[in-house]
Amino acid sequence: MRNLWLLLVVLPFLLSCTKKDDSTVATKSMPPELVVGTDAAYAPFESENADKSVEGFDVDVIQAVADKAGFKIKIINTPWEGLFNQLASGDRDILISAITINSERKKVMDFSEPYFEAVQLIALPLKSKVTKFTELRGLKIGVQTGTTGDEVVSGLLGKTDLNIKRFEGTPLALQELVNGGVDAVVADNGVVNNFLANNTKAFKTVADPSFAKEHYGIAVKKGNTELLNKINAALQAIKKDGTYQKIYDKYFGKK
Ligand code: ARG
Repeated sequence: MRNLWLLLVVLPFLLSCTKKDDSTVATKSMPPELVVGTDAAYAPFESENADKSVEGFDVDVIQAVADKAGFKIKIINTPWEGLFNQLASGDRDILISAITINSERKKVMDFSEPYFEAVQLIALPLKSKVTKFTELRGLKIGVQTGTTGDEVVSGLLGKTDLNIKRFEGTPLALQELVNGGVDAVVADNGVVNNFLANNTKAFKTVADPSFAKEHYGIAVKKGNTELLNKINAALQAIKKDGTYQKIYDKYFGKK
């Protein structure tokens, strides 16, 4: 009898607690919209289409990762210069922009496991006699400012060599090659190949064994391990279930 009374008093309280708990869980698992920054002048990885939305391999990868991890994303086209700062300042939560993982960058941001392998490639006019990287000495070379292409060329010529022509975007550098303003461009293989395939046949590429393999990573603000863990788990899951391969084939054909 006494127990029953107790139950009647305590039960509503217990129920209200359960309710409260439920709503907390619901708020927590509500997918927040994370802001993704990318320099969308980098086809086939990221480019702006006619209606100004961003599309490409990276976009499909980050969307698949977000779907798996259960968060929503909003992608904002963000110039390469300043991209890393936007992450540090919190204006962007995630960067996916064909960003090569390296130790310099690891000091200021955290990277996911690699999701793509790349290498530098030299683009040249068909008539060029250049057969290897070191033969670029004395020629005008176009690069995108602050990229790994800039780094390797700066390594060969010295950072302040006036023959290094720096551009805000890789397509601008490649366009300058088409216009004859530079003798060569050094940039990521995927983007060089894509540009030359879509623009003109009068160019060739030279791969050089001295170029190190590069790996693209998805970046989060330094110390944001919670998000990084989610991204890594989702990356692994989309590799396992075939989603990644589908996206890869869509842009690069079957291996
Ligand atoms: N992988 C190169 C780097 O990290 C170039 C990346 C440029 N990406 C872009 N979306 N513009 O330096």
